[in-house]
Amino acid sequence: MSQELWTAVDRYITDLFVPPDAALDAALSASGAADLPAIQVSPPQGKLLMLLARLAGARNILELGTLGGYSTIWLARALPVGGRVVTLEADPKHARVAEANIQRAGLAKLVEIRVGPALDTLPQLAAQNRVPFDLIFIDADKENYPQYLMWSLKLSRRGTLIIADNVIRDGDVIDAASTDARTIGARQFNEALASDPRVSATIMQTVGSKGYDGFAIALVVSDPPA
Ligand code: SAH
Ligand code: DHB
Ligand code: MG
Repeated sequence: MSQELWTAVDRYITDLFVPPDAALDAALSASGAADLPAIQVSPPQGKLLMLLARLAGARNILELGTLGGYSTIWLARALPVGGRVVTLEADPKHARVAEANIQRAGLAKLVEIRVGPALDTLPQLAAQNRVPFDLIFIDADKENYPQYLMWSLKLSRRGTLIIADNVIRDGDVIDAASTDARTIGARQFNEALASDPRVSATIMQTVGSKGYDGFAIALVVSDPPA
């Protein structure tokens, strides 16, 4: 099994299930032209996010880590009339590129980008009564994943779906001796998710054009404290 094969099969899946799409294609071109790193979710993963958001009936979606807005566009397309996405991005340049991409996709009215480190903007969401969210997609800096889980639970209700990208990291996540801060963040996140009685969760390993990684998927099963 090789990266070459995973990429070819991802192409096969994409050709079958993700037809060429002007807004998504333009978002990727503009992100590349602006030198953003090409670390967005793959097309099949983007479609999975959209399907999960539809399954969850999500009207109020939170994303951590916007980059150029590729995953944001997928999530926003799942919204019913009146729904919205709030997406948190630390890098003002990424946010500017995302804003243009989301505008071009015709989704500007549905998406609010909040610029700044997520640990600064998350508390504002709670204070501003933007909660609870129906679906939360965690995809920002891996070092802070444990704190992002804590915040996600605060901003959730029973039935909220929490999804986190990059929780397997080429398998490095099983190395208890890892000194990599991102791997440590993912390990702590996974352990916290597994032991928290407020969620029922699992991890799906993923291979494809983005290599070998994993999506954590958690359903909030308890009501927040009154
Ligand atoms: N969800 C995007 C990819 C996100 S890449 C997609 O699939 O299309 C991770 C993003 O998180 C980057 O844009 C990075 O700038 C941002 N980021 C890094 N640290 C952050 C922080 N502390 N708060 C918010 N965003 C952060
Ligand atoms: C990186 C971040 C991601 O969210 C991802 O899916 C892949 C790579 C990174 O920071 O390198
Ligand atoms: Mg990611």
